[in-house]
Amino acid sequence: MAGNREFFNRRLHSLLGVIPIGVFLIQHLVVNHFATGGEESFNKAAGFMEHLPFRIILETFIIFIPILFHAIYGLYIAFTAKNNASRFGFFRNWMFLLQRVTGVITLIFIVWHVWQTRVQAAFGAEVNFQMMENILSNPFMLWFYIICVVSAIFHFANGLWSFCVSWGITISPRSQLISTYVTMGIFVALSIVGIRAIFAFV
Ligand code: HEM
Repeated sequence: MAGNREFFNRRLHSLLGVIPIGVFLIQHLVVNHFATGGEESFNKAAGFMEHLPFRIILETFIIFIPILFHAIYGLYIAFTAKNNASRFGFFRNWMFLLQRVTGVITLIFIVWHVWQTRVQAAFGAEVNFQMMENILSNPFMLWFYIICVVSAIFHFANGLWSFCVSWGITISPRSQLISTYVTMGIFVALSIVGIRAIFAFV
């Protein structure tokens, strides 16, 4: 019975990492990328998202609750897993360890980023191009954002690789090798989108 519950939780954790959290991550990166078109372009894209009907309900059920479950269960997995990368120097063991490390970095970043934007908005600040420009004018914050955004993207891309294994999509060693190239391609492409967006505010 306990085994069944564990299996269900693992599957739910895995699924939520892709749908809806991964989809949300891509959507967020695309909206941010509008900053490369200038202040007006970004504010228009961000404003569109902000004025979606039923925004609070959408945010709660598509973003907040899934991330909360994935993060809490992710912490449990990260701190109970056997990180054997130091014993076995194989590529996949390192990816396994990096998946956990980037999960923890992503969690710290999400809490900070929500505090710096959403919570400040509740106190009356306006979340727009100028807000991000102010935040990223601090060199420490600029590096913090670059490292954390790349970290979150790595976590998602490498997570897609293990997602495909977990759900039986890539079973043979060959398909898993192809999947490594595809997911690392996704990592590089999304990182370019994320870093270009950050530098558009600087
Ligand atoms: C941007 C937010 C996030 C996205 C898009 C995301 C996405 C994913 C994906 C797609 C997977 C692969 C699922 C699988 O192996 O089947 C995964 C796994 C994992 N995530 Fe996240 N995640 C996010 C945030 C977090 C956070 C905040 C934590 C907290 C520490 C976390 C911890 C983990 C762990 C430990 C795994 C490995 C699970 C395993 O190997 O069984 N993730 N994530």
